[in-house]
Amino acid sequence: MRFETSPHRKAAAAVAAISPLHFRGIPRRRRVLVLALCCVGLFFWLPRIAISFGRTLLFFLFSPEWAGPYDGNGSGRAGQEILQFIDPLIGTANGGHVFPGASLPYGMAKPVADTQSPAENAAGYVSDDNPVLGFSHMHDSGTGGNPSMGNFPLFVHPGCPDDDFTKCSYSVYDRPVNRVPGSAFASVGYFSINLTNSVRAGMTATQHAALYRFSFPGSDTVKVMADEDVPKNKPASATEVPYSPLVVLDLVDLANSRSVGGIQVYENTGRIIGEGQYAPSFGAGKYQAFFCADFRGAKIRKTGTFVANKAVEEPKFMDSVGTGAYIPTGSAGAWIQFERPPTDSFLARVGVSFMSVDKACENAENEIPDFEFERVEEDARQAWAEKLSVIQVDPAGVSEELQTTFWSGLYRTLLSPQNYTGENPLWNSSEPYFDSFYCIWDSFRAQHPLLSIIDPPAQTEMVRALLDIYRFEGKLPDCRMSFCKGYTQGGSNADVVIADAFIKGLTDGINWTTAYEAVVSDAEVEPKNWGLEGRGNLVSWHQLGYIPWNDVDNNGTGPASRTVSRGVEYAYDDFCISLLAAGLDLPGDAAKYSRRGGNWVNYWNPDQSDLFRDGDSGEVIQSGFRGFMQPRQPNGTFRYQNTRTCSPIQNQHQCYYDTGLDTYEGSPWLYSFFVPQDMQTLVHLMGGDDRFVERLTFFHESGIAYMGNEQAFLPVFQFHYAGRPGLSSYWSHRYIPSQFNATVNGIPGNDDCAMGAFSAFVMMGFFPVAGQDVYLLTPPFFREVKLKARQEGNKWAVIRVRNFDPVSNGVGGDGRIYIQRAWLNGRPYTKSWITHAFFVKGGVLEYEVGEKEGREWGTAETDRPPSYAATRSTALEI
Ligand SMILES: *[C@@H]1O[C@H](CO)[C@@H](O)[C@H](O)[C@H]1NC(C)=O
Ligand SMILES: *[C@@H]1O[C@H](CO)[C@@H](O)[C@H](O)[C@H]1NC(C)=O
Ligand SMILES: *[C@@H]1O[C@H](CO)[C@@H](O)[C@H](O)[C@H]1NC(C)=O
Ligand SMILES: *[C@@H]1O[C@H](CO)[C@@H](O)[C@H](O)[C@H]1NC(C)=O
Ligand SMILES: *[C@@H]1O[C@H](CO)[C@@H](O)[C@H](O)[C@H]1NC(C)=O
Ligand SMILES: *[C@@H]1O[C@H](CO)[C@@H](O)[C@H](O)[C@H]1NC(C)=O
Ligand SMILES: *[C@@H]1O[C@H](CO)[C@@H](O)[C@H](O)[C@H]1NC(C)=O
Ligand SMILES: *[C@@H]1O[C@H](CO)[C@@H](O)[C@H](O)[C@H]1NC(C)=O
Repeated sequence: MRFETSPHRKAAAAVAAISPLHFRGIPRRRRVLVLALCCVGLFFWLPRIAISFGRTLLFFLFSPEWAGPYDGNGSGRAGQEILQFIDPLIGTANGGHVFPGASLPYGMAKPVADTQSPAENAAGYVSDDNPVLGFSHMHDSGTGGNPSMGNFPLFVHPGCPDDDFTKCSYSVYDRPVNRVPGSAFASVGYFSINLTNSVRAGMTATQHAALYRFSFPGSDTVKVMADEDVPKNKPASATEVPYSPLVVLDLVDLANSRSVGGIQVYENTGRIIGEGQYAPSFGAGKYQAFFCADFRGAKIRKTGTFVANKAVEEPKFMDSVGTGAYIPTGSAGAWIQFERPPTDSFLARVGVSFMSVDKACENAENEIPDFEFERVEEDARQAWAEKLSVIQVDPAGVSEELQTTFWSGLYRTLLSPQNYTGENPLWNSSEPYFDSFYCIWDSFRAQHPLLSIIDPPAQTEMVRALLDIYRFEGKLPDCRMSFCKGYTQGGSNADVVIADAFIKGLTDGINWTTAYEAVVSDAEVEPKNWGLEGRGNLVSWHQLGYIPWNDVDNNGTGPASRTVSRGVEYAYDDFCISLLAAGLDLPGDAAKYSRRGGNWVNYWNPDQSDLFRDGDSGEVIQSGFRGFMQPRQPNGTFRYQNTRTCSPIQNQHQCYYDTGLDTYEGSPWLYSFFVPQDMQTLVHLMGGDDRFVERLTFFHESGIAYMGNEQAFLPVFQFHYAGRPGLSSYWSHRYIPSQFNATVNGIPGNDDCAMGAFSAFVMMGFFPVAGQDVYLLTPPFFREVKLKARQEGNKWAVIRVRNFDPVSNGVGGDGRIYIQRAWLNGRPYTKSWITHAFFVKGGVLEYEVGEKEGREWGTAETDRPPSYAATRSTALEI
């Protein structure tokens, strides 16, 4: 499909065409030469200057956007209209584990329908055809592993067989009901679904409360569809029941982790309050949660409590309800049966808290005093529209699918970490508290850098929260959910997040003394249990510059494997600490951590070849690439780990948290590229620019790369370091939309709120090297992208493609996707990277693109992104 070319775009194209050589840099020459060549020079340059001037003039005349940096609030296009391009159901199949329900940005309340989808319902709802267990109010989006939270689900029966409440099903084993196929609907601030028991459930949310609307087709009896898949022990008469809705409120959570709990139902008001103690989904310890539910729109008939499937009218109160053999499903709670609601629907408002039942009630009463469903939904939509109003893109010529991929990815980036400020029961502090850093190992690479641009106040609060966790828990977290310490997967990557914030000038209220203390603690002091925080094997790390396989570690315990992946991450963490030390004017420390930042090289085995067994012939063959990161013995000799193990093409699932191998969730092939601090040396070790490019291309072409995990993001762009930024553009256009798209299975792995950040960055045309003041440039997927800097005076940073080729979008690497020339605020710009100042100060970055890789832009040594060769280790010779 071709799009209409607007007049000013035609003018711009015409100008670009008549001035192919504009703005070449004038070389500096000695004065004598300048004098001598003066006349010739004038003769030669005058026409060019005239053309350039004319071009600029034409731009001013014909291109309304060409007005230098923006200082107003832009074209005013941003508003709720972009919300139509957000589809929360993207990533709810295929292991994306995205939360598709209602939520505010960083919202604590996250209501959705929970489905009985084993190993897939980490965020509650899955787009499959499993039955619905209930509707619960708190979730984590995009995580791997066990389901998170999902406490206190509500479940609604339209009525009970023979109008007898004891004949309704209560336990989470028995009550699930199928959904009406295709009935799930999600939009910003709203989720709804129809169940085959004829109940329709709609839900919306404020920061700490959920509001549900349950509705029924109005007639005196309600048809409940017979369904083979739903509980076999349901009475046969259940196909038609008298219409008298019964609400079940269960103390269970999604992982069935409750150890104890209590509940009370008030028969006069219908209020139900309760609490429970649960286990976090990827960490150690317990957390307590509280709720407060109120109902509107129907008269109360009966109330009571239940345990497993046995319901009674008395008592109305249960304390210390345990689980175990007594209640095998963990189901126990309260119920209310209503008379037929006059409007054939009623509302349920559920406030949640981690502090107390009183706080849960207060949250509900403060945030939803009016029970106005549409008002709550509209407020949520407005909150999202405002958050996203700092980004504007020109939609002309871009398919709806790509726009949806873009906006939905941005949206998911803001679902978590969750703002639990005011809800922290663990310590009293005036600092913000954020939770669901789930996990920083995933989010430091793209999500936090994106927040630093589009929502710096939030990112600043998150850093302050990390520091407060350090103050009160003694270490920064690498992973944290539900007020518990989560498992560390590699390095102590909060160090990168903190250095990144410092470098990008996010300083509001951050105590840098504490920040530096915290990262140095990661680098120097091994905790007793480094499976939950900090780093392990630090004595060897300091003495040898690597973690030997089978290291003797007397200082702490943790999963002793992953020596290569932890090692390269520790090196990068140390490098980031060195940048912070330099910024804080601590040159001695800066030098020390910079040296440790070079320790990655100690894993480099120059002789290791890429041996593998051919899938078809079964023969062992070699690809010809030599030199890989490999584990080492305590005596220093290299140990062997197959270079492809833990990649999609060889034993992919061998390297999870319980791994005994030396790389985590990735192969030595992958980790051999993790040297963001010194790519120049890595390129050299891999055999120079051409050989490096061949290797990185092979990585992407061979199936070894897996885009479903965050470590694969940076290698899409590392061609920049060998002077081939065009190949980064090629691969980013190959992966979107083939791996990141607008379908329910449109994310290649757990979202972690990071997959969406990746697609958003790629489509805006830049990608961060987290921890450094570096963004790698590629052409955006839109003719124009505008970002409002919220750090300083609301200035706009504009990225624009002069001869944008909308046809190239979506055809995976064809079309005008290669930058030929670039201009920053009208001046030629040859570097393939840019710094954060662009987003703070505003400005206009323009590209001319072509169908072939450009020869001039970003190719020269001096135009490549920086490498810090000073980090090269002196501990061992290469
Ligand atoms: C900014 O946007 C607001 C609301 O859309 C509008 O009322 C105001 O006039 C705009 N200001 C400028 C300077 O464009
Ligand atoms: C869901 O239920 C509502 C209300 O009963 C009805 O209007 C709608 O058509 C149903 N949707 C589907 C997909 O069945
Ligand atoms: C916080 O302060 C309140 C009021 O002084 C006190 O009741 C509470 O126990 C404190 N909480 C913690 C965790 O110290
Ligand atoms: C987090 O919550 C607190 C308390 O409700 C609020 O003051 C703050 O603005 C919130 N921060 C963000 C980034 O939303
Ligand atoms: C910053 O934290 C340090 C301790 O880490 C403390 O001594 C100092 O008073 C704090 N500064 C401010 C301004 O709070
Ligand atoms: C390891 O433990 C020893 C003995 O307690 C202590 O002196 C040393 O500082 C510890 N080293 C690290 C890196 O934590
Ligand atoms: C180092 O240790 C490994 C494993 O114990 C052993 O096979 C190798 O021979 C040793 N190398 C040297 C130089 O001692
Ligand atoms: C969308 O992305 C998913 C996940 O990466 C992929 O499996 C699927 O093939 C993609 N669909 C399209 C139409 O490209």
